[in-house]
Amino acid sequence: MQLPFSLLLLSVSLLTSPEAVSANFIKRAHETALRHSKGLARDLRVALQGIGQPAGALLIPRDVSPAIDAVVQKVFCVSPTKGSGGGLAGSGSASGAPSATVGVPNPKATPSASSNWKMIQSWQGQSFFDGWDFWDTADPTNGIVDYLSQSDATAKGLASISSSGTALMKVDTTNNLSSNANRASIRITTQASWTLGLVIMDAVHMPTGCGTWPAFWSNGPNWPAGGEIDVVEGVNDYTNNQATIHTNPGCSIPSLTTSSLDITGTLVATTNCAAAETQNAGCGIRANTNNSFGTGFNAISGGVYAMHWTTEQISVYFFPRSSIPSDIAAGNPDPTSSAWGTPMALWPATDCNMTQFFYQHVAIFDTTLCGDWASGVWNNAGVPGQEQSCAQRTGYSTCEAFVRAEGAAFEQAYWEVNYVKVYQEKNQTSS
Ligand SMILES: *[C@@H]1O[C@H](CO)[C@@H](O)[C@H](O)[C@H]1NC(C)=O
Ligand SMILES: *[C@@H]1O[C@H](CO)[C@@H](O)[C@H](O)[C@H]1NC(C)=O
Ligand SMILES: *[C@@H]1O[C@H](CO)[C@@H](O)[C@H](O)[C@H]1NC(C)=O
Ligand SMILES: *[C@@H]1O[C@H](CO)[C@@H](O)[C@H](O)[C@H]1NC(C)=O
Repeated sequence: MQLPFSLLLLSVSLLTSPEAVSANFIKRAHETALRHSKGLARDLRVALQGIGQPAGALLIPRDVSPAIDAVVQKVFCVSPTKGSGGGLAGSGSASGAPSATVGVPNPKATPSASSNWKMIQSWQGQSFFDGWDFWDTADPTNGIVDYLSQSDATAKGLASISSSGTALMKVDTTNNLSSNANRASIRITTQASWTLGLVIMDAVHMPTGCGTWPAFWSNGPNWPAGGEIDVVEGVNDYTNNQATIHTNPGCSIPSLTTSSLDITGTLVATTNCAAAETQNAGCGIRANTNNSFGTGFNAISGGVYAMHWTTEQISVYFFPRSSIPSDIAAGNPDPTSSAWGTPMALWPATDCNMTQFFYQHVAIFDTTLCGDWASGVWNNAGVPGQEQSCAQRTGYSTCEAFVRAEGAAFEQAYWEVNYVKVYQEKNQTSS
């Protein structure tokens, strides 16, 4: 089940001035280049958090707006030994599992009788965890977590199937860990991979609270060559989701304006999605609704995230529990149906070939604690959901001290997932 990983961690810091951004970037770029040149880099992931960032500001060090009082980068490299390109063999069960639906769907359209999509993967019910690998080595994003093997996670009750058939992925809640201890958590990756498709994830609850940094995302081999698509991501008390793509040089989006892309979200970083050319900012888009992440998401029993990847575009939709299109609920998704509406995020193929920059993706759930992003914005306030800083709210000056002392605070740091399903167009002949 386990694959060998060797990880390299790159330094990350909370940067408080343009000068600091530049100095640190040059140092980090050098370190990155060094590690890449040693052939050890495979996977590199970055999130940027610009607080008070004016719309359209570029997060490029020399151009950094003084209004940006913090830029946090998370970067990781993983050895090329990870077998993420293994195709569909050995993948998750698509049948036999009880359907686990929580909440009452309130369809807003009739199902499409002739959806162009066929299901190629499904994880749900008692067999949800079949077809995922449990990552049990160090967190590449510098979180203070011990990711557990499947047997340890099961024995400790952190990975389980609930009585209603939902998949639970929890964080250990033991109080007062010792001073250098990590808190146990879960990170899982699908064994199956796909190029192009429609990934649908239905969750009723997601991790939230100061110190947490959960994500549901996908990436391809030889990062950033195979690309990365962050579907659900954020930190601490955030209530508004951020979706981001990261690529090799050559992929960009045409505009930083929401209207020209026809999305409901707001662009937060650069138009150049290339990791190496934008200090790994990627093309990030933040939702404008506060039920799309964290406590807002949990208060409505979550909903469905859909990631729609074709040769024309990649887009991300969020449907709150009460407005899941009936075509999705019926297992016959149709992104062209009017019920889907305007996506939260969309990256068009205009200046980005969607099979050249993205291929053989695997899906990943993880919940890390502190780490580059959650720790980096511990003292910041003003992001939707985090109107007060975590330092103020918890009384702890560091994320790490809080996470180690206050295990009970992580009772809400769990994923509860109804299902993940992957569809491809019926006329697509290869996966
Ligand atoms: C979402 O925003 C509304 C309107 O500002 C507010 O009343 C509500 O409390 C917010 N919900 C959360 C979970 O932050
Ligand atoms: C996009 O890239 C794929 C794979 O490299 C290639 O086969 C295809 O021709 C490209 N499409 C366009 C429109 O350039
Ligand atoms: C942790 O230990 C300290 C010192 O023994 C104690 O005062 C505190 O209440 C403990 N915290 C929790 C959350 O149990
Ligand atoms: C598959 O069908 C879709 C929708 O009808 C169409 O847009 C696409 O071009 C087709 N792809 C191929 C490979 O024929």
